[in-house]
Amino acid sequence: MASVPWLRRLLLGVALLVVLVPALIGGCVTWVYTGAAISTAGSTDFRNELAIPPLAEGALDPDGTRIFDLEMRTGRKEFRPAQTTETWGFNGDYLGPTLRARRGERVEVRVRNALPEASTVHWHGMHLPAAMDGGPHQTVAAGASWTPRWTIDQPAATLWYHPHPHGATEQHVRRGLAGLFLLDDENAESLSLPAEYGVDDLPVIVQDVKFTGSGFDNAHRIFRNAGFLGEQILVNGTLAPYREVGAELVRLRLLNASTARIYNFAFADERTFALIGTDGGLVPRPLTLDRVQLSPGERAEIVVRMRAGERTVLRSNPLDAGLDFWNQRFSGGDDRFDILELRAAAALRPAPPLPAALAALSVPDGAQAARERHFDLNLAGINNVPMAMDRIDLTVTRGSTEIWVVRNADGMPHNFHVHDAQFRVLSVNGGPPPAPLTGAKDTVFVAPDSTVRLALRFDGPADPDTPYMYHCHLLWHEDQGMMGQFVVVEPGQAAGAPPGHGH
Ligand code: C2O
Ligand code: CU
Ligand code: CU
Repeated sequence: MASVPWLRRLLLGVALLVVLVPALIGGCVTWVYTGAAISTAGSTDFRNELAIPPLAEGALDPDGTRIFDLEMRTGRKEFRPAQTTETWGFNGDYLGPTLRARRGERVEVRVRNALPEASTVHWHGMHLPAAMDGGPHQTVAAGASWTPRWTIDQPAATLWYHPHPHGATEQHVRRGLAGLFLLDDENAESLSLPAEYGVDDLPVIVQDVKFTGSGFDNAHRIFRNAGFLGEQILVNGTLAPYREVGAELVRLRLLNASTARIYNFAFADERTFALIGTDGGLVPRPLTLDRVQLSPGERAEIVVRMRAGERTVLRSNPLDAGLDFWNQRFSGGDDRFDILELRAAAALRPAPPLPAALAALSVPDGAQAARERHFDLNLAGINNVPMAMDRIDLTVTRGSTEIWVVRNADGMPHNFHVHDAQFRVLSVNGGPPPAPLTGAKDTVFVAPDSTVRLALRFDGPADPDTPYMYHCHLLWHEDQGMMGQFVVVEPGQAAGAPPGHGH
């Protein structure tokens, strides 16, 4: 061997490679894995007063229609002292006003797009005609306007609005386009619940962000197959927020307006709270909980009891979402965030106990279901078919109830959102749904390898040519094609063709 030194060198080189390369790769993976968990829990200096989005009650037209104006525009905002970030917002730099209307009212929203590109405005959770829904078919070109009108015909609820342009929803929402749309009704108004907007009834719009010099850093990091995951939390556009409260009972309307991150909300001191509402409105009776998990698009209304002079911190804890070791870490499951500090005044306005009964559930129980459909969630597409603008995937009959069985056939987190209809979660993996899923829902988390059964009723109106959407609300997944379209038709009618698209 000594006679062929080049061979010895070669063998030594190969041996080194065999040892070093895996060690290097292993080292990198460990480094990336270790660096992937974020925690701001317990280390937040709550220095900014929580902003409350302005309440827009609109103007009443002589015929009684409530008219709102929304302009989508570019802006700049100082989230951090002396550093401006380029943003998008409705009627302002970031987020939008809270729209508010009452059941039975006719509303009209004059949407103007002053952005440099086309977008749409979708009313998430709203029961309304498909042509007013603001999905990817109701595009508003740059400089153009769109004026949807409909009648509010559903129970009091915390809904929201955001853009829905096909393939670009994640980026449009990330830049700041989102707002709340609160609905009231006679029943909710008759209950003694904290209901003074911005005082004892606080909007809590939760988003994760990452900043660069003058903008948001919206890049997806390695292995984050959920989509964008940020490192800091904004609540109503405020970093490290606190809010002073002056009542014993405080209602928080939690909205997960993040594009991929799932939150597991709880108080740092582990106090319990009452869950009073889910996506579609009030639950039948207050439910005492110490955790509520929300995936993107979901809402929860909770009521927390405060003692004079104390402070408590709303937090997001590591997820209990059935994710495997890898996804738990790389989909943000191990992250912990301080969300909002509540500071109680030295003397608090006394509040009566919560009512024992809140509202009757308006979602069907599935007993009269006309049919059952199956949806397999996969990043490649729902039932393995990516979204196509010119293909209607399902036709449902107006007035009928259906059972939709949704299975996460993927290793990664997904959820499922249906436009127009609220649903009841009948079961999760064959068992009764957990308490936070017992109210009306329009978005539900579906853990890897699990199945949810939903009952929904399609109350129309029929429009065979204009589809509603169903999709994963992790918005990058939606943009990748995890979306399908359904139309509502009269009995016996066939689906038409979506107007002005495809071919
Ligand atoms: Cu919140 Cu189809 O969207
Ligand atoms: Cu929606
Ligand atoms: Cu998904």
